[in-house]
Amino acid sequence: MATFPRQLSELPAWKSLEAHHRAIQDLHLRELFAKDPTRGQRMALEAEGLYLDYSKNRVTDETIRLLVQLAEQSDLASRTQAMFGGEKINLTENRAVLHVALRAPRGASFVVDGVNVVPQVHAVLDKMAGFANRVRSGDWTGHTGRPIRNIVNIGIGGSDLGPVMAYEALRHYSDRTKVFRFVSNVDGTDFCEAVQDLDPSETLFIVSSKTFTTQETMTNAHSARAWLLGAFGQDKAAVARHFVAVSTNAGKVAEFGIDTANMFEFWDWVGGRYSMDSAIGLSTMLAIGPENYRSLLDGFHAMDEHFRTAPAGQNLPVLLALLSIWYANFFGTDSVAVLPYEQYLKRFPAYLQQLTMESNGKYVTVDGRHVNYDTSPVYWGEPGTNGQHSFYQLLHQGTRIIPCDFIAFAESLNPVGPHHDLLLANAFAQAEALAFGKTRAEVESEGTPGWLVPHRVFEGNRPSNMLLARRLTPDMLGKLVALYEHIVFVQGVIWNIDSFDQWGVELGKVLAQRIVPELTSDQPPDLRHDSSTNCLIRRYRTLRGR
Ligand code: F6P
Repeated sequence: MATFPRQLSELPAWKSLEAHHRAIQDLHLRELFAKDPTRGQRMALEAEGLYLDYSKNRVTDETIRLLVQLAEQSDLASRTQAMFGGEKINLTENRAVLHVALRAPRGASFVVDGVNVVPQVHAVLDKMAGFANRVRSGDWTGHTGRPIRNIVNIGIGGSDLGPVMAYEALRHYSDRTKVFRFVSNVDGTDFCEAVQDLDPSETLFIVSSKTFTTQETMTNAHSARAWLLGAFGQDKAAVARHFVAVSTNAGKVAEFGIDTANMFEFWDWVGGRYSMDSAIGLSTMLAIGPENYRSLLDGFHAMDEHFRTAPAGQNLPVLLALLSIWYANFFGTDSVAVLPYEQYLKRFPAYLQQLTMESNGKYVTVDGRHVNYDTSPVYWGEPGTNGQHSFYQLLHQGTRIIPCDFIAFAESLNPVGPHHDLLLANAFAQAEALAFGKTRAEVESEGTPGWLVPHRVFEGNRPSNMLLARRLTPDMLGKLVALYEHIVFVQGVIWNIDSFDQWGVELGKVLAQRIVPELTSDQPPDLRHDSSTNCLIRRYRTLRGR
């Protein structure tokens, strides 16, 4: 796999975008809409049942043309081909990046090191479906013969955020007779609260860890085993009925004591944050059943195909990635607010935080140089309308511009009274208010006293995207997640960084391992940190009577 010795900021399209930005940066969305009454219809795209209105962005047709040129000059087409072709585009870990193979239909072909991996993917999916059906039907029983009623996923990062998000998002489709819990934090409270009202004889733990060495997950898994064995008089035979594993590391799974017959495999070409549709999705399949799970995968696949084949200007992930680059790199914005007007997507922003920031929060290019431009903005958000009564003040009248992604659905899964029309009215109103604001003249014409006028003026010109689909289904969730996965990929290609490694999480892990014995030793440790860390360790030891 070749590296890409290019300097983004030297590309002709980048230079043109800089000049273009200087020319249009002060244009107001009010002017853009006034000049072109068809803007709202024109600047919209529909693919795979997902409608994107991008007209409320601070762009002209020329901006889009130049951004598409930037994608072309960044070799997006060949990099995309390389990913789908199973090339080792994760350079620093020398790995292929083939999460798209996880949702490929039976009979498709994705090749890694000369081997078509799709049959392996489907073999694991079949094994997951067999297991899920047994648990869901009550055929799989616990140590004492009781059916499983509680499923606890133990994992962190990509082995938690995707499963939690998908469970919450698809709760409407889930088996309501089962209880699902997710334990991630090494803080013992997370585990204790998750199991405090559960009956061990009806509880199944899924230990989800790509590496099966992650400190938090292994600590929680050992506590879970102790909790279970405590209930069964230390009878180790109970483990096989109450623990299954999802991992790439069969050796470590066996070492923990889980029968590898009850291990669901995935592969090193699946990154943690791209793994919710691998066996890491076992809890999702247990919740919604294999058929709905297949529909989720089909949604992912449909978006993959759209991304792979649609021309850049009509390609949802490409266009959204380019718009994010326009703001981050030319307007200098620092964050993106993701605002789902759908309660079931309440964990979607948290899920996106790992996907976007662990992937693209990097200052070194693939060929080892320090970038001279910004990379990932901070992604954050809350479901509407709660955010409106919290941080939207800053979105409307703060000093920073924060581009927003609104996500909404025409139909509610819980159609009750007037709620849904009110919800959607709020989503559309917020995007309108952000874009057009309220002028001084409008405020004055309402008879507002002079001293109050500045406080009641909304400058507007705050950009947003509106994503609108008919209904939140498993298929549509797959499309949405794949959409953002590919946005992240396109951003990484243009920023010329490795979106698939995560070296930035290593240092803290190593330092924590060094500090553990310094906190726990009987004798005062010989501390050789900085004076701040030394003091904190000593104070902790004193507070704990050590
Ligand atoms: O935070 C670092 C990381 O490696 C993530 O990329 C990953 O999702 C998480 O830890 C969990 O890793 P594992 O699945 O190996 O336990």
